[in-house]
Amino acid sequence: MSNRIDNLLHEDRRFAPSDEFAANAVANAELYAEASDDRLGFWARQARELVTWEKPFTQTLDWSNPPFAKWFDDGTLNVAYNCLDRHVDAGNGDRVALHFEGEPGDSRSLTYAELTAEVKRAANVLTGLGIRAGDRVAIYLPMIPEAVIAMLAVARLGAVHSVVFGGFSADSLRSRIDDAAAKLVITADGGWRKGKVSPLKPAVDAALEARGDLGPQDTVTNVLVVKRGENTVDWNPERDRWWHDELAAASPDHTAEAFPAENPLFILYTSGTTGKPKGILHTSGGYLTQAAFTHKNVFDLHADSDVYWCTADIGWITGHTYVTYGPLANGATQVIYEGTPDSPHPGRWWEIIEKYKVSIFYTAPTAIRSFMKLGRKIPKQFDLSSLRLLGSVGEPINPEAWMWYRKVIGGKTAPIVDTWWQTETGAIMISALPGITETKPGSAQVPLPGIAIDVVDDDGNPVGEGNGGLLVVTEPWPSMLRGIWGDPERFQETYWEKFGDKYFAGDGARLDDDGDVWLLGRVDDVMNVSGHRLSTAEIESALVSHPFTAEAAVVGASDETTGQAVVAFVIIKESQLEESKAVEDIQAVLRTHVGEQIGPIARPRQIFVVNELPKTRSGKIMRRLLRDVAEGREIGDTTTLADTTVMQIITEKVG
Ligand code: PRX
Repeated sequence: MSNRIDNLLHEDRRFAPSDEFAANAVANAELYAEASDDRLGFWARQARELVTWEKPFTQTLDWSNPPFAKWFDDGTLNVAYNCLDRHVDAGNGDRVALHFEGEPGDSRSLTYAELTAEVKRAANVLTGLGIRAGDRVAIYLPMIPEAVIAMLAVARLGAVHSVVFGGFSADSLRSRIDDAAAKLVITADGGWRKGKVSPLKPAVDAALEARGDLGPQDTVTNVLVVKRGENTVDWNPERDRWWHDELAAASPDHTAEAFPAENPLFILYTSGTTGKPKGILHTSGGYLTQAAFTHKNVFDLHADSDVYWCTADIGWITGHTYVTYGPLANGATQVIYEGTPDSPHPGRWWEIIEKYKVSIFYTAPTAIRSFMKLGRKIPKQFDLSSLRLLGSVGEPINPEAWMWYRKVIGGKTAPIVDTWWQTETGAIMISALPGITETKPGSAQVPLPGIAIDVVDDDGNPVGEGNGGLLVVTEPWPSMLRGIWGDPERFQETYWEKFGDKYFAGDGARLDDDGDVWLLGRVDDVMNVSGHRLSTAEIESALVSHPFTAEAAVVGASDETTGQAVVAFVIIKESQLEESKAVEDIQAVLRTHVGEQIGPIARPRQIFVVNELPKTRSGKIMRRLLRDVAEGREIGDTTTLADTTVMQIITEKVG
C-alpha cells in the first residue's frame, strides 16, 4: 500500500482542457468563489434554478439538531414532475429521454412525453394497489426502462423505493423487504445477462415464502411483474399481477401532488462494518438539487445535444443519481443497457457508443481495467469520436488505467472526471470540473463548490498538504443521507461519533502539495470489489451459517482487475473433516453458499481452509496479517498475537 501511495504521489502529469472545451463549458470558476462567499446562498440559488418548486422554500438549511439535517424544509415539490412533466411542458416532449439497448440486441427509445405517460400510468396502477405517500416499494428489476419508470412512479406518489440489485439473492432481498416493511415488490420474470435469461421472479417468490421468523410478516400484498425474459414463472393469482396488463388498463392521466422537501424518496441498502446492511435514507429536495447540479456541471451537460451514458445498474447509488434522478431532472438524453459489457462480443460497449453517438460516458475503473487487459484493438474497431467527456467512479483509478482511458477511449482529448462520493453522500462530492480544472491521473482532486472536505488525523486535526489521514466532510450538504432506516443510533455511531461535528466517510485520503485529494481506499472492514461495497462481516456470517464452518475471517486482497477481491480463511468443524471431505469440495460448497446467501458478487475468489485464525489476546481477528498472506507479502508485526506461531502454520497451509 505505502509503495502504491508513493507512486501515486509522484504523478506529475497534468492535462489542461482544450480552449474549445473551456470556452463552451457549463461550469465556470465563479462557482467556487460564489460558494465560498456564501455557501448556503449558493445552494439556495442552485435549488431555485435547477428544481421546480410547488411552494418555494424560505429556509435553506436547518442544522439545529445535528446530525439530522433539513434542507429547503418548508418548500414542496414533486420529484417525478421535475424529471418528467416539466420538460414536456417546456416543449421538450419529443426529446429522447431513454435509448434502451437490450442485451439480445432489441432496442427501444422513449421520449420525455412517452416516459411521462408511462410513469403516469404506473402511478395509477400503484395507487390502485394501495400505495400511498410514505409506503415502501421494493424494486428488483433488470436494467430495462421499467426500472426507471417504476422508481419515478413510486416517487410521484411520495412513496419510498428500495431498489435491490438484481444480482442479490432471495435471502438478501428478503431481509431488505423486511427491514423496510415493503408493501409491494416490482420485479420481472427475468432479464438478459451473458447471453441467457437470468430469472428474477423465483427469487421474489422464495423471499416471500420462507419468511420464517425474520421480521414483520406479510407486509407485501402484491407483486407486479414485468415481462422481459419470457421465462416460465410460478404465479400466485392472489398476489401477482402482470405489469403490462395493469398498465394497459390504467388511465394515462395523473396529476403529481407536491410533497415536503424532506419527504423520504428512497432507501438504498449498503454494506457497513457489521453483518447487517444499512438502509441509507435519502429525501427529496436537497437530493434532487445536488443530483441535478453535479450531473450538469461535472458532466458538462448540454442537454439539447449530448448523449449521456452511465453504465451503472439502478441497484446501486450511481444508478439512482446518475441514471434516474440527475439526468432526467436535467432533461438529458441517455442510453441504458441491459446486459454485460462482453455480450455477445467484447466490443459491445464501444458498439453502443458508436450506435448512439454517446458524448458523455461514466463508468468504473474495474471495467476500464478489464478492457485494458483485452487490448486496444477491440475499442479501435469502433468509432468513438463522439465522446467528449469521460467519468470514473466507485474506487480509486490507477494512473495507468486513467491514461489508457484517456488515450484509447477519449481520443487524447476528452477530459476525465474522477468522481468521489458514496451511497451516503447521495451525489458527487469531489471531482474536477471539466473546462476549469487541470486534471491529474489518479487524483479525484477538489471538493465541488459548496462542499466542505478535509483530511484529518485520528483526533480530527487537519493533516495539511503533503500528508495522509481520514477523509471527512465538515459541513452538511444537500444530498446527504438523512439517516439509516429504523436505526438513528447506528447513523450517529457510524458517521458522527468519531469526530463529533464532522462526517466520517470511512476512506483514507492524502492531500498532495497542490491540495488535491488522493483517495486511498477504505479504512474500515468494508471491501470494494469491482466498485461494489461488500462487508467482511456479512460474508463471514454467511460462511459460518453453513454447517461445515466453525469460524471464518474474510479480507479484501488487492486484485489487478477488480480492485479488491474477497479472500476467506475458514476453520472447518472437526466432525465435517472426519468425514474426509476433499478440501476442493468444501471450498466449492462454501463459495456457492455465499452466492446463495448474499449474491454472486460476494463469492470469495479464494477460500483457504486453516486450523487457526490469528487473534489478539482479546480475541479480535487480525485481518491485517491475513491480508499479508492473501496478497503474498511477508507477514507484518505479529507481536500482539495471542499465539505467535499461528501465522507460520497458516502460511504453510496456504503456501
Ligand atoms: O471507498 C470509496 C469508494 O467507494 C465507496 C463508496 O461506495 P458506494 O457507497 O457503493 O458508492 C459507490 C459509488 C459512488 C467510497 O467510500 N469510491 C467511490 N468513488 C471513488 C471511490 N474511491 C476512490 N475514488 C473514487 N472516485
